Amino acid sequence: MDLKTKLEELAESSMTAIKNSDTLDEIETLRVQLLGKKGALTDLLKMMKDLEASERPVVGKLANEIRDDLTERITDKKEELEQQALNEQLKEETIDVTLPGRQYKKGQTHVIHQVMEEMEDLFLGMGYKIISGSEIVSDYLNFERVNVPQDHPARDMQDSFYINDHYLLRTQTSAVQPLIIEAHDFSQGPLKVISPGKVYRRDSDDATHSHQFHQIEGIVVDENITMADLMGTLEVMSKEIFGADRRVRFRPSYFPFTEPSVEVDVSCFNCDGAGCRICKHSGWIEILGAGMIHPNVLEMSHVDSTKYSGFAFGVGPDRMAMLKYGVDDIRHFFLNDQRFLSQFHQKGEE
Ligand code: PHE
Repeated sequence: MDLKTKLEELAESSMTAIKNSDTLDEIETLRVQLLGKKGALTDLLKMMKDLEASERPVVGKLANEIRDDLTERITDKKEELEQQALNEQLKEETIDVTLPGRQYKKGQTHVIHQVMEEMEDLFLGMGYKIISGSEIVSDYLNFERVNVPQDHPARDMQDSFYINDHYLLRTQTSAVQPLIIEAHDFSQGPLKVISPGKVYRRDSDDATHSHQFHQIEGIVVDENITMADLMGTLEVMSKEIFGADRRVRFRPSYFPFTEPSVEVDVSCFNCDGAGCRICKHSGWIEILGAGMIHPNVLEMSHVDSTKYSGFAFGVGPDRMAMLKYGVDDIRHFFLNDQRFLSQFHQKGEE
């Protein structure tokens, strides 16, 4: 077979091979095999020297044409394969913006905190400050400084969790009274504070008692503070939380740290006083304890009880939330069951 035929055959078979290549690797290997230094075409060109002088220009021209043609076809094929690879990559990496996003379940403010925040807003609006106290306190602060001496029988009602001989989980937010009253500078104006937080008692848990619950302590001390101020304040509070048409009732009561002491009832939101299951057929629901701060408490906090007087109240937001939403068991609040908690959506929270 002469060189010309060999060249033509190589051209023919190479064209088919180029056409059939379907990866960039394949086409590159083919390029090296055909046009590389040790490639098939190069090998044939080396045989040019054995040709007759007259044949050389003709075969040389043909060889050049074949080389140019193959080079061009390989370049084209490469471009085609590169474009194809790019298209595939683009297709794979497309983001389908029509896919729905992942739904995250958003939490919300706990219903008891909602009630506490509502109370905080109300009292801030009336010029009170919010000060929170520690949950671990000495029994001296929790009891003695609020006029409950060592052997006082009132301690029995608030049996608690002692950490050691002198420290306990506070049984009442009233434990904040001594330090707050003691720290107040009366030259700066009256003392008006609310102190919300957790309290603990060794109660046996039932539908209306939990060993851990919440209280909001209110404390007001100044010259000429009277029972009328206390009554007016609690009336505003009750109506704000339970509705403007609620009536408020004060009953005499006893707390060691207030004198006189009262317990406060609101007319039942459910039956408006007619009597129903929720108010135990009395028409009234007890919401808090309060009274005029006992002079002993003021004196122990270095406040002159002949010049200053004040009132204090302790209200239970858990109780308020139960009443407000008709929840019949306090334990629901603390079991962390989302089906229960998610019912209490606030405005502004999705
Ligand atoms: N500390 C009392 C209790 O827990 C409530 C109370 C507070 C009463 C302030 C009077 C004044 O029962």
